[in-house]
Amino acid sequence: MPDLSSTQEPPVESALETENQFEQTRRFWNASPCDGKTDLESRRSWRYAKYPWLSALIIDIASRHGDIVEIGCGQGTDGITFCQNLPAGGRYRGIDYSGESVASAKQAVTEATDLKVTPELAAGNAEKLDFETNSVECVFSMGVLHHSPDTEKAVQEVFRILKPGGRAYILLYNRSSPKVLAAHFFRGIQSALDFVFRTDRIFYKAFYGKHFEGVLGTALLEGFGVPVLRSYTHTGIKRLFRDFKTVSLVRCGINLPAGIAGDQSGDIRDRALGLLFLAVVEKP
Ligand SMILES: C[S@@+](CC[C@H](N)C(=O)[O-])C[C@H]1O[C@@H](n2cnc3c(N)ncnc32)[C@H](O)[C@@H]1O
Repeated sequence: MPDLSSTQEPPVESALETENQFEQTRRFWNASPCDGKTDLESRRSWRYAKYPWLSALIIDIASRHGDIVEIGCGQGTDGITFCQNLPAGGRYRGIDYSGESVASAKQAVTEATDLKVTPELAAGNAEKLDFETNSVECVFSMGVLHHSPDTEKAVQEVFRILKPGGRAYILLYNRSSPKVLAAHFFRGIQSALDFVFRTDRIFYKAFYGKHFEGVLGTALLEGFGVPVLRSYTHTGIKRLFRDFKTVSLVRCGINLPAGIAGDQSGDIRDRALGLLFLAVVEKP
């Protein structure tokens, strides 16, 4: 695991390097695995306080589907919740493009208790999934595909691997969320400053290793450092999932500390300023 609390220079790539966006994406998430924190328990309490509806959503999905593929499993926190709630004989497979995240997820499995199913974890690419066509009952992906170089291609891959009648639960950034708007705004300023001063992600460098993780998780690093960050309008989401039948589409996660947001356990009401669209879609 990388030391997220250190004050070392971030492993940013020079603008002169010719690495493609995939390599930059892998490097970024290897250096800053999602949510940060060093152990499963602190990640879990941080995460489910930040998204109070999320564990109820996972438990609901696990009660409906016995075979789940998670695209972009990060450090495995949700995968472990799936595996604690799937029926015995169920199957959970998680893939992520960042090898460090997958290694951290495997470590988390050794810390987990009450697993009913053993998670199968591997490195993989959302845009070139290593699963047979028409073979998967359910896909889950939280906050991932908007960071992939070609989100459309990743969605086509979800469509390809799902069985007819199979369902995907995909969470993607909502463009009307204040956090997302702020991220686009400051990323624009950062690009302009980088252009003028010939720097590379000047804000990201300023924040990296400055001990914000305890309060903000990896949000600042993600906002400024992540190579790809897209967000969607309602129309944009409908277009992205045009080949699927839409079961439901809500915006959730108002992105306030749980104390301010109130108790939202199990409550997935549509909130206009919610951080993420939850698209529940079915392959016809
Ligand atoms: C914001 S994190 C979310 C991780 C996890 N779903 C969670 O909510 O904690 C984004 C994750 O997407 C992964 N990712 C980005 N592009 C990917 C791709 N093309 N294929 C697979 N994983 C990808 C990153 O490595 C990173 O772990």
